[in-house]
Amino acid sequence: MKNINPTTTKAWKELESHFKEIENEHMKDMFINDDNRAEKFSIQWEDFYVDYSKNRITEDTRSLLLKLAEECNLEEAINSYFSGEAINQTENRPVLHTALRADKNTKINVRGENVLPEVEEVKAKIRDFSNEIIDGTRKGYTGKNFTDVVNIGIGGSDLGPVMVTESLKFYKNHLNMHFISNVDGDHVHETIKDLNPETTLFLVVSKTFTTMETLSNATTVREWFLKSVPEEEVSKHFVAVSTNLQKVESFGIDRNNIFPMWDWVGGRFSLWSAVGLSICLAIGYDNFASLLDGAHKMDEHFRKTSFKENLPVQLALLSIWYNNFFKAESEAVIPYSQYLDKFPSYLQQAIMESNGKSVDRNGKRVDYETGTIIWGEPGTNSQHAFFQLIHQGTKLIPADFIGFKKSLFEDKAHQDKLMANYFAQTEALLNGKNEEEVEEELKFKNFTRDEIDRLKPFKVFEGNKPTNTILIDKLTPESMGKLIALYEHKIFVQGVIWNIFSYDQWGVELGKQLANKILAEFDDRDVNNHDSSTRALLNYYLK
Ligand code: F6P
Repeated sequence: MKNINPTTTKAWKELESHFKEIENEHMKDMFINDDNRAEKFSIQWEDFYVDYSKNRITEDTRSLLLKLAEECNLEEAINSYFSGEAINQTENRPVLHTALRADKNTKINVRGENVLPEVEEVKAKIRDFSNEIIDGTRKGYTGKNFTDVVNIGIGGSDLGPVMVTESLKFYKNHLNMHFISNVDGDHVHETIKDLNPETTLFLVVSKTFTTMETLSNATTVREWFLKSVPEEEVSKHFVAVSTNLQKVESFGIDRNNIFPMWDWVGGRFSLWSAVGLSICLAIGYDNFASLLDGAHKMDEHFRKTSFKENLPVQLALLSIWYNNFFKAESEAVIPYSQYLDKFPSYLQQAIMESNGKSVDRNGKRVDYETGTIIWGEPGTNSQHAFFQLIHQGTKLIPADFIGFKKSLFEDKAHQDKLMANYFAQTEALLNGKNEEEVEEELKFKNFTRDEIDRLKPFKVFEGNKPTNTILIDKLTPESMGKLIALYEHKIFVQGVIWNIFSYDQWGVELGKQLANKILAEFDDRDVNNHDSSTRALLNYYLK
């Protein structure tokens, strides 16, 4: 991939002057002046309808952003990404979560060898294992069927599985799913306190098998299990997902119970691999395969569609527009589906661990903004929590509104109310409410002249707040796969344009090392080093 500082491109310079021309324009006027605006700035693809017309853009903005993508060699970068080049250069690895959902007849070489046969082999193992657990062929050590599954992992080994399992709960079978991630002992003990070791299956999921949280939780669970079960039965109840087969075996998990993964799958993009075993156990292999299939369809769309009609490319460019020109610091993701409750926190890792970088691909400090801060909660709950700040606060917060045309339980009355809110909010964010409208409203309610003058400033909404409306037919495993892959590719595009490496996470690695160092010092019961604040806190804790 070429290393191009985006701010040195012609398009960037043109965007800067274009920004000055349109920064104060109101979207309301853009709609008044163009009857076809919605049509011009929307993309309908398969079961997705994405309207991005409620953005502070004109056709010129879009052309310049597309020019920026071209000047930053996005097309070439996409080819490098999908073909397995080692684009994660600081770890010398390809980035191939897309291979996990590719057509099995394609050839994708890593270090000279086609990885697809191996991917298919692991998929078959996932399928057979989950089928046997679900249908009861594989039983616990006393011959009883499994009733509960516990996923022990953190970061990408937890967030993807827990988010998808929650999102697709409607499609779930009888197995009760639990997720232990935090090293907080209260998390693990609270989870296992009511579990029956005879009927519980434990999945220890760690790409590296060195993560403190996961190994501590797995050890605690194993000790709890061994209190009532003979050691030789461990193999019936513990399986692992990892690249580190040796470490898994020395932990005491049977070689046959290991589901391998590969260093070319990043932790935060690994739910498509055996890391998604809990997903497959919860919803069955056919649904898991549909999830992968949906993601593959988005991969094909991303690879093969012109940038103008390309969903991940357009969403990434809009985000750059706000981040780098309007200097917006954060973006909100608001799913209008309670099932997608965990989607914003999943995206926080995917987006912020990937693009939270301040050094470019040449190893130089960047002199422009990179990764956006991501946050969000489902609508309508979030409307009654933080929407006030989006509507009337001082910060510009572009937001993605994700909704579904059909609800799963088909309760039309509820669905209509939910969707009325979904549409009303983006419309309100666009239009706001001006002084005349406030005046009219208060007059209608018989307020006095004095009261109207006093209240007016507080009741005015500027509007002009950008939103993308992502409207999907129905929440299914396939549409969920498409939605996740949409954001994965948005991350990629932004990383390419910002000229950063999106697939390492050295900042998090540092945190892991420092915690281990402090943990070792606890044995001394008297800490003498560190800065005075940390030292005082440590000693206060230890006494
Ligand atoms: O949070 C840092 C990180 O390295 C993530 O990228 C990863 O998903 C997580 O830790 C867990 O790592 P592992 O799967 O190796 O236990």
